[in-house]
Amino acid sequence: MLAFVYGQGGCILQQQQQHSLQTRRCFLGNQNYFVGKNNATGKNTKTVVFKRRKQVVAVQTSHVDSLGGTRDQKKNQVEFTQVPDQRGHFGRYGGQFVPETLFFCLENLTKCFEETKDDPEFRQELNSLLKDFVGRPSPLYFAERLSSRYARKDGTGPKIYLKREDLNHTGAHKINNSLAQCLLARKLGKKRIIAETGAGQHGVATATVCARFGLKCVVYMGAKDMKRQSLNVFRMRLLGAEVREVTAGTGTLTNALSEAIRDWVTYPEETHYIVGSVSGPHPYPLIVREFQSIIGKETKQQAKEKWGSNPDILVACVGGGSNAMGLFHDFVAEPNVRLIGVEAAGEGLDSQKHAATLTCGQLGVLHGAMSYVIQDEDGQIKEVHSISAGLDYPGVGPEHAFLKDTGRAEYVAVTDEEAIQGFKLLSRMEGIIPALETAHAVAYLDKLCPTLSGSPNIVLCCSGRGDKDVHTVMEYLKEKGDSDIHLDDIIS
Ligand SMILES: Cc1ncc(COP(=O)(O)O)c(C=O)c1O
Repeated sequence: MLAFVYGQGGCILQQQQQHSLQTRRCFLGNQNYFVGKNNATGKNTKTVVFKRRKQVVAVQTSHVDSLGGTRDQKKNQVEFTQVPDQRGHFGRYGGQFVPETLFFCLENLTKCFEETKDDPEFRQELNSLLKDFVGRPSPLYFAERLSSRYARKDGTGPKIYLKREDLNHTGAHKINNSLAQCLLARKLGKKRIIAETGAGQHGVATATVCARFGLKCVVYMGAKDMKRQSLNVFRMRLLGAEVREVTAGTGTLTNALSEAIRDWVTYPEETHYIVGSVSGPHPYPLIVREFQSIIGKETKQQAKEKWGSNPDILVACVGGGSNAMGLFHDFVAEPNVRLIGVEAAGEGLDSQKHAATLTCGQLGVLHGAMSYVIQDEDGQIKEVHSISAGLDYPGVGPEHAFLKDTGRAEYVAVTDEEAIQGFKLLSRMEGIIPALETAHAVAYLDKLCPTLSGSPNIVLCCSGRGDKDVHTVMEYLKEKGDSDIHLDDIIS
């Protein structure tokens, strides 16, 4: 049997193999690993064991074409349109750092996804539900007053459009993925759904589709997030889901994810785990990207109808990265479209209280995949902070790490204070109260727009609505002594 821990740390020190006959030790650059034939399955297997301070922190097992090398090793040039490879690698990122029990669930899921995603019956059912249950397509809305803020005296200036995912049923982009994965779960014959949630939007979306399909639903949520997103906790319970409080660690999204994976390891047969972002082990980054890519597909079509060409710039907030990847995906292979992801700088990048993983993190393994991770020099995951529960996560989807390293996308960070200003700005300029996550992207416009020339078309993903965050913002403003909104008679 393989020793196993599923990636809670980052440093790669060495690899080892404790099972399998006919193993052979191999070296590739600074990586060494074992290949061998698994006699039980008859498949060629590559095993990499990651250690930190002589402790095993992660084991990656993958099937390979031959004992001479893996598919990804044979390719040294990866095109944007070719990622991930068949083993879920985005360049050096991604993969499957999971225990063997889950490895077979992931294989089944990959197979089911590949067989189903283009199946006309599946597509028809999904499209019909997206239209009539979710309310798609979501509008591409010209934010006229917001654009006028950045207009120059000569009449030029950026034109800002909002992709209105906040208008989806349940109020965010998360339902695109939860709905489609629920249909996959049904195909896999799974009757029990689990999910993790930070802001509660993925939890609410999953509880909603489970209610729709009559499936049992368990949602893991950090204790701190349950407090700051209490409205969403109530919504999930109302929808019939069981919300399990996670008190471990910081009581935020990262701990909820760990608990959900633990649950899945314990009940793999009957359970499907609906991961809420483009993170986690392969095939999740691929599956979630596919089901969220409707955001970018619609945008492309709507942009063509509105101004006859692609947008010039796409802007989206990045927690795990699903709304950003959903918007970016159809444009990644089009180099003229600038892609900008906005992370949470919390109380400032120098404060150590932030969640800007791509801006400040390093290579590591978290929740089943290799990506950027916020960690200390020993590879221990560090506590992160953002006023926005959905961005309060020390990891990020592996494709974003790949897009950053290749220079295809830019990643920037916005503080809590700036996000609050973005929250107020969109509310007052457009009559749209955004989610605090979205408010990060809105706030970045103040930095971006003065640097632009001409009149570029910017599409900003309005990933969710802000009802869930109103209490957090009220408390923040009260603490800061904000006199702009009179709070004394509504908050004690
Ligand atoms: C409204 C909203 N936007 C964005 C996010 C961040 O997630 P992701 O980066 O996967 O889009 C969340 C997460 O909960 C969210 O609720």
